[in-house]
Amino acid sequence: MRLVLVDNEHHIAEAHRRALCTVRPEWKVVLASSAEAALRALEAEPTDVFIAELGKPPADGAALFEMVRDRWPATVRIALSEFAEKSVAVRLERSVHRFLHKPCDTYMLAMLIERSSTLRDIVSDPAVLAAIGGLQCIPRPPVTVQALEKVLADPDAGVIAVAAVVGRDASLTARILRVVNSSFFGVGRQVTRVDAAVNFMGVSLVRAITLADGATRSFTVTPDALDLDEWNQHAVRVAATARDITRAMCPNDRALADEAFLAGLLHDVGQVVLAGVAPSVWKEIERQATTELLPVNEIEVRQGRVSHSLVGAYLLSLWGLPSSVVEAVAFHHTPERLAGHMFDAAVAVHVADALTLRPQSRPAPALHMESVLGAGITEEHLQAWRARFNAFENAA
Ligand SMILES: [Fe+2]
Ligand SMILES: [Fe+2]
Repeated sequence: MRLVLVDNEHHIAEAHRRALCTVRPEWKVVLASSAEAALRALEAEPTDVFIAELGKPPADGAALFEMVRDRWPATVRIALSEFAEKSVAVRLERSVHRFLHKPCDTYMLAMLIERSSTLRDIVSDPAVLAAIGGLQCIPRPPVTVQALEKVLADPDAGVIAVAAVVGRDASLTARILRVVNSSFFGVGRQVTRVDAAVNFMGVSLVRAITLADGATRSFTVTPDALDLDEWNQHAVRVAATARDITRAMCPNDRALADEAFLAGLLHDVGQVVLAGVAPSVWKEIERQATTELLPVNEIEVRQGRVSHSLVGAYLLSLWGLPSSVVEAVAFHHTPERLAGHMFDAAVAVHVADALTLRPQSRPAPALHMESVLGAGITEEHLQAWRARFNAFENAA
């Protein structure tokens, strides 16, 4: 793995380089002392991770990160900063994947680099990596855009009203949690609740992010590649079901129920990325799934393509969402790949996805019974939940 590290204080950069090479001797760390030197280093060889210090606002280094994003989108971009000002969050989160406060612990930095590269290696497809790396926001379903515009136009709309609309929009939820979980907000813990995120951020910043999104869509998803309204509806249903299942299995673990809800809301986010990056490929996967009455994840396996689960997980890990949520998204079709049998957000989403009703032409993915039973979920649980969710859906 090749890293380019920019810091105009050479002794600090050299100390980081030495420490990183001690942790991972196989990493090649190239130092640069200026923006020009950094660009030369990036031009010289493909680079996996770009790390630079942000200066004091307004000369905050955003222009350099934007240039790197536009020219080398697949490169993971990490900013080190002494300044944590909410006002620059909106601008910088479009060009920087992760933030770390200075002085930062080298082991933290190494862990961050390692985390972003694990899933990166699995995704491997250069076009998909570039698309995910350059992505500033995920296209949003028209129905929730309208609802959000309405609530944000109301000057009296408070946190609860805004959070209620945001929580029904998987794309915007991912964006807002990305910003709140960056160190700009100094929350100090990982936030998984939408209402807590809107509260930390404030309604005015949610408004600013939403308005800015309209101007800088990275790609569009055409309705014939993926119906975003239908996709979002499915996400919301899986989220609510995963939370209900978690409450039934672990009644006292509120944090796990929040994690399951968030993972459910974001579990298929990779489908939007794939439908935007390679619409003809995604349309063909959907076509085969519909004509053969197979779930899309089975068609992906048959075609040997990178799965929407891993694509979504990589995007969310780059955006700094909690690792338990990233893991649940990565393994929502393959819970057997997680070590040990236990009930967690991944199992909750796996079961919720299988139990959630969908149109006749879209069969639900199969349950991996060994993982489900191993997590303490019985056949009786499944029967009862299926009956309850069906009754709820039919009444809706
Ligand atoms: Fe899925
Ligand atoms: Fe799904």
